[in-house]
Amino acid sequence: MAVNRGVVPRVFKERIRVFIVGGGSACKLLLTAIRDDPFIEVLGLAEINLDAEAIPIATSMGIPIYRDYREVFDLPEVDLVLNLTGEKEIGDELSAHMGGGAEVMGALGGRLLWSALSWKEYLATTDYLTGLYNAGVFHRTLRSEVERGIRYSAMFSIFFMDMDNLKEVNDAYGHVVGDKVLRRVAKAMRSSIRGSDVACRYGGDEFAMILPDTPPDGAIKVAERIRRRIESIWKEGFPRVTVSIGVAAFPIDGVTSEELVRRADWGMYQAKRTGGNRVCYAGDEVSIPPICRSVKDALSFVSERGERDKYNRLHSEVVAKVSVEIGKALKLSRSEIRMIETAGILHDIGKSEFFPDAASWSYKEHPVIGAFMIRNIPALSKARPMILFHHERFDGTGFPKGLKGEEIPFGARVIHLADRLCRLLQDEGHWSVGRVTKVLEIIGKDQEAVDPHLLAVFLRSLKGRDPQEPLIE
Ligand SMILES: [Fe+2]
Ligand SMILES: [Fe+2]
Repeated sequence: MAVNRGVVPRVFKERIRVFIVGGGSACKLLLTAIRDDPFIEVLGLAEINLDAEAIPIATSMGIPIYRDYREVFDLPEVDLVLNLTGEKEIGDELSAHMGGGAEVMGALGGRLLWSALSWKEYLATTDYLTGLYNAGVFHRTLRSEVERGIRYSAMFSIFFMDMDNLKEVNDAYGHVVGDKVLRRVAKAMRSSIRGSDVACRYGGDEFAMILPDTPPDGAIKVAERIRRRIESIWKEGFPRVTVSIGVAAFPIDGVTSEELVRRADWGMYQAKRTGGNRVCYAGDEVSIPPICRSVKDALSFVSERGERDKYNRLHSEVVAKVSVEIGKALKLSRSEIRMIETAGILHDIGKSEFFPDAASWSYKEHPVIGAFMIRNIPALSKARPMILFHHERFDGTGFPKGLKGEEIPFGARVIHLADRLCRLLQDEGHWSVGRVTKVLEIIGKDQEAVDPHLLAVFLRSLKGRDPQEPLIE
């Protein structure tokens, strides 16, 4: 057998220009397969349905979308037209009208290509023994769930599952029986989940699962069901086997894929250490932050919780006031300033200090958790990105996404500047009574973090003021 040395074969030595008709799953598979091939240029895609499967990837590749395949007749220098619609008449029409030496691949050729690509996709994403997805799919799906979770403030869970005694089964009964057990375990997973859940064999006797839109208590229930089903497969004549499962959830246990994997892994080892055949959650206990129902609800959450934690309540008020000062310097409209003020009060609503009884999340998670808490309040739809991205730094080294410069939403840059200023004032012992002179002095120190335009406008507005005047009331 030929050895695969990890080199992609170069089929084309010169650039070819392709036009694709039909944006369904065949097209999606094709575009995924050729997207990094420098010798294939896709001139256009004809598809009437803008919800078709290939549209997102075609758009991300910058491929023009046409509603009518006949547009190809007017394009110059087409080398190949691919008919992926499966319809013979379209292929015949294309063949009859394409001049200039362009090759046309008809309906049968298109179907053959689809079939080959589907098999390639299946083999590349599936674990051969169990038919579950493989570890590559797990990591890709996890990355895109994290992206989706941050963008839409959605919650999801993952778990890792390890068999407690597969080695003993293999030693006692041989690998043929061991493989049968692995397949039966995969079946127990498949029969316990929804269509949107992604069940994977991670490797050896380790499995992993992604459960979109599922809080940790829901994931624990699913995991527990799977654990029980596996525990009882001996009744069907299989050897006795058990599993240890560790559950973690976005955003409360982590806001990056690495952190989530680490925490779920930790839960799994915890389950093993305490005897195996159990489900362990990554945190101390499941504590889901409350979802606020209205602006009033959110504001009173901060002020009531702030009763116990005066530091954070005062910080929120000061950040809101300084944000308003910056807004005025920028000559923003009254409604924009009001929104920034509200976001200023709410910017740290996700901080664990507000949850003294149940908090298990870290500092880096608080912007994502804050955005999650207010996600259902339409009146705060503009404040949500300000809260979500208030720790992004202009130089791209902030969190949760590491956005850079103007990628960071404008309001978030305002809150960030106000937040930074307040913390610097506080470090210098000036807290809420910072004077204009002190502000000018302090803010000069950390310029790469903030938007230079915002800073310049704000500093200019301060220069006209009495240096001894307090920055805010
Ligand atoms: Fe914060
Ligand atoms: Fe803050």
